[in-house]
Amino acid sequence: METELVGVQKTLSPVLKAKALDNRLPDPILGDEYAEQVMRRLDPGYDKRRFGSSQLGLAAVVRARAHDDWARSFLADHLDAVVLHLGCGLDARVYRIDPSATVDWYDLDYPAVIELRQRFLPPREHYTLIGSSVTDPAWLERIPRGRPVLMIAEGLVPYLTEPDVRRLLTNVVGAFPAGQIQIDTVPVWAWRTSRWDPTLRRYGARFHCGFDNPAALAEWHPGLEYVDEAPMYDSPILMAKAPANIRRVYRLMNLLPGMKQSTRIVRFRF
Ligand SMILES: C[S@@+](CC[C@H](N)C(=O)[O-])C[C@H]1O[C@@H](n2cnc3c(N)ncnc32)[C@H](O)[C@@H]1O
Repeated sequence: METELVGVQKTLSPVLKAKALDNRLPDPILGDEYAEQVMRRLDPGYDKRRFGSSQLGLAAVVRARAHDDWARSFLADHLDAVVLHLGCGLDARVYRIDPSATVDWYDLDYPAVIELRQRFLPPREHYTLIGSSVTDPAWLERIPRGRPVLMIAEGLVPYLTEPDVRRLLTNVVGAFPAGQIQIDTVPVWAWRTSRWDPTLRRYGARFHCGFDNPAALAEWHPGLEYVDEAPMYDSPILMAKAPANIRRVYRLMNLLPGMKQSTRIVRFRF
């Protein structure tokens, strides 16, 4: 796979691996069987490293679980919703949530990623793949209007520039009568130092924006309202389900200033 995906597209792989390893815990956080199957096909030796220490990616699984929980509660109240799952990577959210047939779900990522999805994940009714950069406004023209929208962008926003994030959010708010927007962001320091981040360097990727107060993004559109934030590195579910050695590492990391909030998972509505 490493030869087919380039730059930021490769960042889907550590998140998928974290979800695959989570599924092998006796009491997983996400319990995503698709992640394990797809990861095995992508990289048959993905679990060669010591299982214990490789579970350090579990915080990313907590993030996925938070987005899933918010999405489920929105879809329970909006049976006619349209879902925009942006920068979907190889995430199996649509299969995990398994929305009713009254919901139309769109998974969007770069064409190379969508091509991999088509190879590794099954099609389903009321489910459409869009191979496009999220920054190309043309894809939004393909989405049916007049229905409530759920926009989920997990692990995507930091890879966009601030003007692109602003355009995306305001375009979505402007295009639908009501909706929920779920994103995660990094703080300004993480953006500024991302060029030295060893993982990002390995993939040839960088962050292009950061926000110290993501709730303030609601000011970008008069109809947008900040709702709340979900915990990640200090979340009760991580502390309850992660193996003891991993919990200890996260507890120590959380003592470092800024670390606990190095990713913020936030929800808006309009
Ligand atoms: C860290 S991965 C997260 C993948 C997935 N959301 C998950 O949580 O497993 C970031 C994803 O965003 C996608 N991405 C980054 N910039 C993008 C853009 N401009 N348009 C569409 N997708 C983009 C990448 O290709 C990659 O799949």
